[in-house]
Amino acid sequence: MAAQFFLLALFALSTCRALASDPGQLQDFCVADRTSQVFINGFACKDPKTAMVEDFYFSGLHMAGNTSNKQGSAVAAVNVAQIAGLNTLGISLARVDYAPYGQNPLHIHPHATEILTVLEGSLYVGFVTSNPENKLFSKVLNKGDVFVFPQGLIHFQFNIGANKAIAITALSSKNPGVITIANAAFGSKPSISDDILAKAFQVDKKIVDRIQDQF
Ligand SMILES: *[C@@H]1O[C@H](CO)[C@@H](O)[C@H](O)[C@H]1NC(C)=O
Repeated sequence: MAAQFFLLALFALSTCRALASDPGQLQDFCVADRTSQVFINGFACKDPKTAMVEDFYFSGLHMAGNTSNKQGSAVAAVNVAQIAGLNTLGISLARVDYAPYGQNPLHIHPHATEILTVLEGSLYVGFVTSNPENKLFSKVLNKGDVFVFPQGLIHFQFNIGANKAIAITALSSKNPGVITIANAAFGSKPSISDDILAKAFQVDKKIVDRIQDQF
């Protein structure tokens, strides 16, 4: 009986682990075949015999992003869209540049946990837990500090310094996905009715219309 329980527990744990990120590997690699007409969860593999070293390579993260925009930040993602060989491997990364007082605004990665390290500057970062607590976990990070944003939770990074900041983030999916909260709520196409947004955010419809105009 005890042995059966143990096996059940072990099985439960192993299934949880498999569901926590991209599916496990059954082969060395599965370089994405972007020309495939087969639509699966991810990308079909190209013939492994045709895999090349370039399928596992990307160059360019030494270059600073252009932060001349409303948020004062730029994200250079390196995921399966840039490196076909990342397909099915459950990992990717990004470089984020921040202008002085710039921010990477409130967003979610629906498919990945993120671990960020500060290369330059100081960032105020945070994430908020699920309902009903909605607890904010936040901290000031300096050069060399590392912080984790759990999968699916709303998070942000704000450059508190008068100088530029740079971070590198690793993500537990070949395709982490991004949902920017403000863009999704106020910039959807077609727009969500201002009646719905006014009630959701408990403000006047005119305020909703003004925010929608920004997108
Ligand atoms: C940065 O982006 C701004 C706004 O789009 C643009 O005007 C500017 O030319 C860009 N700068 C560089 C160096 O590409």
